Amino acid sequence: MADMMWAGRFSKQVDETVNAFNSSIAFDGRMYRHDIKGSIAHAEMLGKQGIIPAEDSVKIIEGLEEILADIDSGRLELDPAAEDIHMFVEAELTRRLGDVGKRLHTARSRNDQVAVDLRLYLRDEIKQISDMTAELIKTIISIAKEHTETIMPGYTHLQRAQPITLAHHLMAYVWMLLRDMDRLSDTSHRMNECPLGCGALAGTTYNTDRELTAGLLGFRAPMRNSLDGVSDRDYCVELCCALSLLMTHLSRFSEEIILWCSWEFKFVELDDAFATGSSIMPQKKNPDVTELIRGKTGRVNGDLVTLLTMMKGLPLAYNKDMQEDKEAIFDAVDNVKLCVKTFTPMLRTMRVLKDNMRNAAARGFINATDCADYLVKKGMPFRDAYKITGTLVAQCIGKGLTLETLPLSDYKAMSELFDNDVYDAISLETCVRERRSQGGPAPENVLGQIAAAESALSFYE
Ligand code: ARG
Repeated sequence: MADMMWAGRFSKQVDETVNAFNSSIAFDGRMYRHDIKGSIAHAEMLGKQGIIPAEDSVKIIEGLEEILADIDSGRLELDPAAEDIHMFVEAELTRRLGDVGKRLHTARSRNDQVAVDLRLYLRDEIKQISDMTAELIKTIISIAKEHTETIMPGYTHLQRAQPITLAHHLMAYVWMLLRDMDRLSDTSHRMNECPLGCGALAGTTYNTDRELTAGLLGFRAPMRNSLDGVSDRDYCVELCCALSLLMTHLSRFSEEIILWCSWEFKFVELDDAFATGSSIMPQKKNPDVTELIRGKTGRVNGDLVTLLTMMKGLPLAYNKDMQEDKEAIFDAVDNVKLCVKTFTPMLRTMRVLKDNMRNAAARGFINATDCADYLVKKGMPFRDAYKITGTLVAQCIGKGLTLETLPLSDYKAMSELFDNDVYDAISLETCVRERRSQGGPAPENVLGQIAAAESALSFYE
């Protein structure tokens, strides 16, 4: 076996089990582009500052660019026996350039290197997740636009409560997802500071230019404290927290779709391409996609707990425990992308069964509040109106009627304020149309919400 890079200090080879245990290339190899990008910026700075000869800096940059192209094209494969992606790239550079390659790691440590790589990698991932979330939001909005008059029951305690429209219901998710985008952008902004040049923990005696490398890599500024620079993983936790919430929103939406697909609701029907069958029950059409999203939410929450627990007892500065950050945050990022990517077309192709929604809204006395409000508008105190309506509902249940079909004589027996116009006041269309309070389901209000959401979204484009 070849000597480790740090063999000088050691009198023995590292045990094979330790080597395998220590190695992270199996999961940090995916950051090779970002690692090379960081090294190119570092080499450029070393040359400009005269820390290494300018011609060596040029050779190193060319060598790194070739390695990048070779990995991209598959000509160069990552060595699974390498300790990590940083060691792999540097060893390959030295294999190609000899002594010149050995100058790259001047004034740098893997501790600041890995911190740069991970920030660069996650910055790209956040952008992708944010774009995918915007696409999902647009899909929801386009469905909402078609259903500003589609009446459905609104629920509390999963009991039919008051009439709303499908558009109103869907827009609730749009606002959740817009907050998710806000959190992602906030995280991305806060983490966009550069740890390169913090060294192992205490900076360096070389005359480095950290402003230059930060600028070359698109960071807002260098991090101020070298200990913090190498040991901060707040951005992993913050991102994972934002992703957990995003998943929570998808999971709640998924749960509703699972309910809506059941024969008990039958509010929607999934496209055949986005549902699965049963191996034994020929009649089944299962909403597996939404169930998997609900399931994977637990996994992303687990990643968040992994990160928080990993960090909570670490003394400053770098500790190898931190190598565990990557599998957790990569798992979260990968799964969120998978979920959003599948959820969006599933939603786009889902069929809305308007009549079933309307029929469900017509049973369950969801206009009882409106019946009480009818009396209030004729001068009765709300508590009295509430009590009378409750009695009417009980009578309806006894007689197998609804408030719409209960004869006027029964109404009048409870209060002389009731008149023929009560039927219009409690019609579901009126109930929805009149709910014009801000944030309510009246179609013109929801159209206003949609316009506001679209303008909030355009902010990210
Ligand atoms: N593979 C390591 C990680 O992911 C890179 C940093 C190693 N630093 C060290 N001092 N051993 O954290």
